[in-house]
Amino acid sequence: MIERSEAARPEARREQQDLYSAAAVDHFTSPRNVGGVEEPDGKGSDTNPACGDRTTITVRLRDGRVTEARFRTFGCVAAIASASVLTELAAGRTAAEARALGPGDVISALGGLPERKEGCALMAVGALRAALVDAQVRARA
Ligand code: FES
Repeated sequence: MIERSEAARPEARREQQDLYSAAAVDHFTSPRNVGGVEEPDGKGSDTNPACGDRTTITVRLRDGRVTEARFRTFGCVAAIASASVLTELAAGRTAAEARALGPGDVISALGGLPERKEGCALMAVGALRAALVDAQVRARA
């Protein structure tokens, strides 16, 4: 039987070889907006098909603007840093502006990500967009 720690070792080794910017390390070691918004207006999740990791984002909206966004992720350094910076980027924007944020915005705000980690940024974006669509659907109900 293979223990999870055994199975995870090659990925852990690759993680150590990835080079991260100071901003990405900061968001990974001190992630912003961790957890869930209480009684959120919207909640969305996305999975990185390359690894099966998952991020969930919850949002609060007031007068069409994102006033709070929080995340939980089961993912790598890049997944945590991406979700953290994306919740900051989303706050204060209109729902449409937040929905228009893409992986390029996340990667640029982090000062770059290793190329093989771009899907991790896309996962955060997918979770935010899903949360905003959920909020829109709930508002119409
Ligand atoms: S490797 Fe799975 S989210 Fe980054």
